[in-house]
Amino acid sequence: MAYKTIQTKTEGRVGVITLDRPKALNALCDELTGELADALAEFEANEDIGCVVLTGSTKAFAAGADIKELQEKDFVSLYLNDPFAKTWESVARFRKPIIAAVSGYALGGGCEIAMMCDFIIAAENAKFGQPEINLGVMPGAGGTQRLPRAVGKSKAMDMCLTGRMMNAEEAERAGLVSRLVPVDDLMDVAMEAAEAIASKSLPIAMMTKESINRAFEIGLSEGIRFERRVFHSQFATEDQSEGMAAFADKRAAHFKHR
Ligand code: HXC
Repeated sequence: MAYKTIQTKTEGRVGVITLDRPKALNALCDELTGELADALAEFEANEDIGCVVLTGSTKAFAAGADIKELQEKDFVSLYLNDPFAKTWESVARFRKPIIAAVSGYALGGGCEIAMMCDFIIAAENAKFGQPEINLGVMPGAGGTQRLPRAVGKSKAMDMCLTGRMMNAEEAERAGLVSRLVPVDDLMDVAMEAAEAIASKSLPIAMMTKESINRAFEIGLSEGIRFERRVFHSQFATEDQSEGMAAFADKRAAHFKHR
């Protein structure tokens, strides 16, 4: 499908979505969020895709929701027809692994979308922030919930109440990002990680993601029970038989479901 505010491509089993509204630093306007949801639905339905990389430009992953559009909203219109909800759900509930490759600004909704992904690989110039308080609102796409889970209460309060930005080093120290890489290496590293994931068994990778995400929804003993049930069920898959047989035979595994 041809999009106006994003670009999509596939490389092997990896789907790449590039936010592409350079004049507005990839601000998340209604059109862009709609296209993002459509692109994710396409990759979710495509059996040949095993992992997705979501990225932006060198200057901006996304500088947040489009403030010029937000300005026009009122309580009732947002309450009745939240234009973002479908997109946030489509990222947060995307069932296949999805990596955010962040360079430049990831602010407001941009930081929140990155946090909806499974992990963040950041370039050295990345800047994360929840500056909504400067606009007279607070984060509204999960920032008050996901940021404290990622970096702890103190830093999340600091970010959301002062509106300050966190540089990439601080973000890595705080656990918000999994890897910090030179700007020029960002896509190579993200693609390498995505290709590694996409070479595994897709159902097993999806169950692994689902199980880790359960850790943020339920208590430890229920989480362990969930993990154990899913782990047991994996022994009903051909990919478990193949993975273990390949190890015993000292050869590479050829997963059927990938
Ligand atoms: C609309 C934006 C924008 C945004 C940048 N632009 N961010 N337009 N919405 N969020 C536009 C600018 O208006 C400008 O357009 C162009 O992009 C370049 O931006 P500059 O400000 O000139 O660039 P620079 O001086 O380099 O500053 C970069 C910046 C700054 C620090 C990122 O643009 C900034 O503070 N942006 C807003 C960040 C923010 O508050 N984000 C949170 C949004 S609220 P023109 O036409 O003038 O050239 C949010 C809520 C989410 O995200 C919850 C949703 C439910």
